[in-house]
Amino acid sequence: MSRELSVVVLAAGMGTRMKSEIPKVMHKVAGKPMVNHVIDTAANLNATKTMIVVGPDMPNLIEAVSPLPTFEQTDRLGTAHAVLAAKEALRGLTGNVLVLYADSPLFTAETLSRLVAAREDGDHAVAVLGFRPENPTGYGRLVTDPGNGELLAIVEDKECDETQRAINFCNSGVMCFRAESMIETLEAIGNTNAKGEYYLTDAVEVARANGNSCVAVEVAEEETLGVNSRSQLAVAEALMQERLREAAMANGATLIDPGSVYLACDTKLGRDVIIEPNVVFGPGVTVGDDVTIKAFSHLESCVVGDKADIGPYARLRPGAEIGAGARVGNFVEIKKAVVEDGAKVNHLSYIGDARVGAKANIGAGTITCNYDGYRKQHTEIGAGAFIGSNSALVAPVTIGEGAIIGAGSTITGTVEADALVIERAQRLDKPGWAKLFREKMKALLGK
Ligand code: UD1
Ligand code: CA
Repeated sequence: MSRELSVVVLAAGMGTRMKSEIPKVMHKVAGKPMVNHVIDTAANLNATKTMIVVGPDMPNLIEAVSPLPTFEQTDRLGTAHAVLAAKEALRGLTGNVLVLYADSPLFTAETLSRLVAAREDGDHAVAVLGFRPENPTGYGRLVTDPGNGELLAIVEDKECDETQRAINFCNSGVMCFRAESMIETLEAIGNTNAKGEYYLTDAVEVARANGNSCVAVEVAEEETLGVNSRSQLAVAEALMQERLREAAMANGATLIDPGSVYLACDTKLGRDVIIEPNVVFGPGVTVGDDVTIKAFSHLESCVVGDKADIGPYARLRPGAEIGAGARVGNFVEIKKAVVEDGAKVNHLSYIGDARVGAKANIGAGTITCNYDGYRKQHTEIGAGAFIGSNSALVAPVTIGEGAIIGAGSTITGTVEADALVIERAQRLDKPGWAKLFREKMKALLGK
């Protein structure tokens, strides 16, 4: 495939129905903004140039798509007008220009590549991705020649006559243009219609009037979902999760209850990983081979080594690096900390800004006190160290290799390798005191 491909992503709408302070296309599906889904799909198609059309005053959107060039559509005068906002960047392009909506994150690279191939096949001026919804209301209808199947026109819902309204072959919004004739075609589009807008869809009739042919390619409705509301955002999330779960299982992970596992687009799972029910993966998680992640665990921006055992009820926060064969058990939170190979943090602990050396054993209830109200401080725990239950390690602090910390200690200074340190109040024994106390009370109060 040597064809030239450029992509224009329309992202100018604020999406008022989302009732949000941020542009619609910044809302996330599977942990990634919708606009970035579309951009990444374009990247998978090896697009040489990708341009984003944005609305006024959308600095966070411009940052999210950086370093891709953005073009502002100041007045919202229709989809053709939106594409022409990038006119200067479209000039001189060859091959194909694909127009995508940033609020439609589910189109696959395979589908789009099928559309581009169909456009090239007959050197059509325009190729349109169509679908057949149960209810075509609101969509542009694709009028085709019953003889040769050529696409004759796209008629917007508001412009349809009775016969056209009955057509259920609809415009998904995705269109592919012959780059060389694109600007000329779009500039010839007028706005004398029900909405007074420059309809991109009129490109079909304009191109045909100039002696070109156009074509429509069909895609499953599921891919065409456009998000206009929070409710549709949830539908897009569900469809994306289904894909991600299927892909995870196809790559050799066991999901005991797939429907209760939430993955991010970039979740990487090794071979023979077992995921129990109700596990959530935020962005940036890499899991090695033969790992079990038990129920109700939450992971984000972390790395889990081969044969590690996580959960149930574990929380791995950004910067957690769990070594091979290590164990992170129930109600344990790890943040920005390395837990080296074979180390164990089995119960009820917080380990943050720390290194836990290989095979160290962290007793139940151990806390790294990493924050003094101003700064985050580091805790260093040597290989093979044993931290007794309910210890507080007040950072910055270093526990030497093989050292033992007595349970209930509050460690505030360096512990030598192989030493035993107990830092807690001295024991006080008063034999018989309790019995005497009870007798005294009985004499005084009569009970
Ligand atoms: C559009 C298509 C219709 C298709 C439908 C699929 C046109 C004229 N109609 O209709 O054939 O069936 O999508 O969902 O293209 N946008 C801008 N600037 C504008 C106008 C729109 O950036 O001035 C963006 C919107 O933010 C949106 C996309 O273009 O992402 C589509 O615009 P919208 O107004 O929703 O078009 P529809 O009427 O749904
Ligand atoms: Ca729409």
